[in-house]
Amino acid sequence: MNEQFNTACDSKNFEEKLNINIRSLVEQMTLSEKLGQLSQFSGNEGHVSDELAQQIRAGNVGSVINEVDVETVNELQRIAVEESPLGIPLLIGRDVIHGFKTIFPIPLGQAATWDTELIAESAKVSALEAAASGVNWTFAPMVDISRDPRWGRIAESLGEDPYLCSMLGAAMVEGFQGTNMADLGSIAACAKHFAGYGASESGRDYNTTNIPENELRNVYLKPFHAAVKADVATLMSSFSDLNGVPASGNEWLMKDILRDEWSFDGTVVSDWDSIRQLSIHGYTESDKESAFEAITAGIDMEMVSQTYLTYGKNLLDENRITIDKIDKMVTHVLELKNKLGLFESPYTSPSSFPEIANQNHLSLAQDVATKSCVLLKNNNILPLSKNDLSSIALIGPLANDGYEQLGTWIFDGDEKHSVTVLSAMEAYVGDEAKINFAKGVKNSRSINDEHFSQAIDAATNADVAVMVLGEESILSGEAHCRTNINLPGMQEQLIDAIAKTSTPIVLVIMAGRPITLETVIDKVDAILFAWHPGTMAGPAITSLLFGEEVPSGKLPVTFPRNVGQIPIYYAHKNTGKPASNQPFIHMNDIPDRAPQTSLGMTAAYLDSHFLPRFPFGFGMSYTVFSYKDMRINKHEFSSDETIEIEVEVTNTGNYNADEVVQLYIRDLVGSVTRPIKELKRFKRIHLFKDQTKSVRFLLTSEDLSFYDRKMHLTTEAGKFHVWVGGDSTASLHGEFELINK
Ligand code: GLC
Repeated sequence: MNEQFNTACDSKNFEEKLNINIRSLVEQMTLSEKLGQLSQFSGNEGHVSDELAQQIRAGNVGSVINEVDVETVNELQRIAVEESPLGIPLLIGRDVIHGFKTIFPIPLGQAATWDTELIAESAKVSALEAAASGVNWTFAPMVDISRDPRWGRIAESLGEDPYLCSMLGAAMVEGFQGTNMADLGSIAACAKHFAGYGASESGRDYNTTNIPENELRNVYLKPFHAAVKADVATLMSSFSDLNGVPASGNEWLMKDILRDEWSFDGTVVSDWDSIRQLSIHGYTESDKESAFEAITAGIDMEMVSQTYLTYGKNLLDENRITIDKIDKMVTHVLELKNKLGLFESPYTSPSSFPEIANQNHLSLAQDVATKSCVLLKNNNILPLSKNDLSSIALIGPLANDGYEQLGTWIFDGDEKHSVTVLSAMEAYVGDEAKINFAKGVKNSRSINDEHFSQAIDAATNADVAVMVLGEESILSGEAHCRTNINLPGMQEQLIDAIAKTSTPIVLVIMAGRPITLETVIDKVDAILFAWHPGTMAGPAITSLLFGEEVPSGKLPVTFPRNVGQIPIYYAHKNTGKPASNQPFIHMNDIPDRAPQTSLGMTAAYLDSHFLPRFPFGFGMSYTVFSYKDMRINKHEFSSDETIEIEVEVTNTGNYNADEVVQLYIRDLVGSVTRPIKELKRFKRIHLFKDQTKSVRFLLTSEDLSFYDRKMHLTTEAGKFHVWVGGDSTASLHGEFELINK
């Protein structure tokens, strides 16, 4: 460590002297060293280039992204600590989105577990494996509210609901960061992409977002605020422009909201090159102006573009920015390094860590994958019994692909650890039944039916056809958006061909988004939606199909009937002319010369039922749960009282199983219109056959608050409805009233 730095480290206790040191360190730094701390460079994938080494020696590098070879990382740190002017260690950033080597389900799949503890565990293991490679900063959780399945990045999200996204995002933060970021295996988390990215127009990535401030505050900002309350160390600015002002140059977002209203004092990093892209947006005329706007907004660290290094001095010399502003940004970065314990121990010794992708990690990944799968349909064909089957046709391009089952954003995942459906099913079934595997199509996008015949042969003589179809991982994630979200390629035709054999079909779907199923749903006997389940896809899916485990996943996002319904989400407003639940009359059945108002004048469609195919929170089980006897402790509450809502949940079926009990409210009248339902609590419980449990939820007036038309967070007196059930169509209902004292 640098002498000057050590000298100051002699006087007081480490924590105090480090803080003092940060101040004295900043005072010792030259301007170029300060601008260096605000700059993140891209690594060279396994070696240290002369150029990067030179930049580090010159004090121009505060962080390196995308270097995960631990020897290389240690060499980068050594150069920074021993050969740069002040010996300041580096932040080493990586997208550890849903695992490092052990890959968990994609975040949208993890969200389907509705299990905060499990998700925190998953993040903790991901952090542990990444930290063993020298990574000390992940760019996760992605907490963008996502209500448009055309958008590829819905795969990385935690779904459509502010409350669910807030709870699960905060759990990920706690999993990644632990109770002390300096602990072995803890890494800094990053809530992204601040803010509103999920509203990218037309579901096209990087596109414009236009979100009224009231909607922004009541929906899109909530998960970010929850992450800040969970002490997330960093946030990342979004690529997108928000109401005409790109996030990476948006002072209202980054200062007024984040710093002033929420008192966030951590680090904000730009997205990849998003500062330089401000001129591409047409928000600035040059890189220099982009640097000015981003510094003014308070983007502390510039990811890979180098406008700060290039123009920071000019902007200071021209008095357009102040050294105080720069010092504050540098302090954020140094405090992050301090909290990570990097000044004390910048190097990584892999031997201090447990074995990568060890059995415990893989078992956890299997548990998360099992709990993430959502049963959407079951004509009592599931669970299968290996004793009753002599021949199983296993069909589909995703039934035996250890890479594709991992999903998007798995830079460090390794398919050698993957267990596919085929291998897991063969291991489970053994000699009890014969499994005939046929891909049916070359891949999920193939428009060629040359392999259909093998699949048809396999199905023709089988007792059941298990079809594992969906999307290859490339079809979701960043910049991978689709205007048609049916099963791609000729997979629907493959289902038709197999349906013609009259062999019952169990459809398993691996995908990074909701898939529209109108043309297939009636041709199959069961549908298990597995998202991209990760390394342990095979054992998880096999255990569910054969009843060793019971499906318990619940949708974190609404499934539309067709792409024309998008955006579609359960927490919508009532409108002045709500679509009724009357039977849907398709436009092809409208009588000739129908008078203009003969169909009713409501918020419905002529060519599709207005309700989704599967609602938010939906997921079947092999058993049945009944909800009854809602008790509310009082029916009138003042704002300082707690509302207690209790129900009895009974497992009336034949399987011991988990259920996710969900509580929704409706604020009947507000100074701005309120959603027809809002999720406010959920709890995953386990019930044995015939067991009944009382489930009790507590609400406070804070849970009923919202931003009013003046953008004040408020709780308004009035009547509320409350529902508790197994999805957002819950019917067990009660009412209460909030009164002004
Ligand atoms: C990407 C993504 C962001 C990611 C970053 C670093 O473009 O938008 O989510 O963390 O670049 O890879």
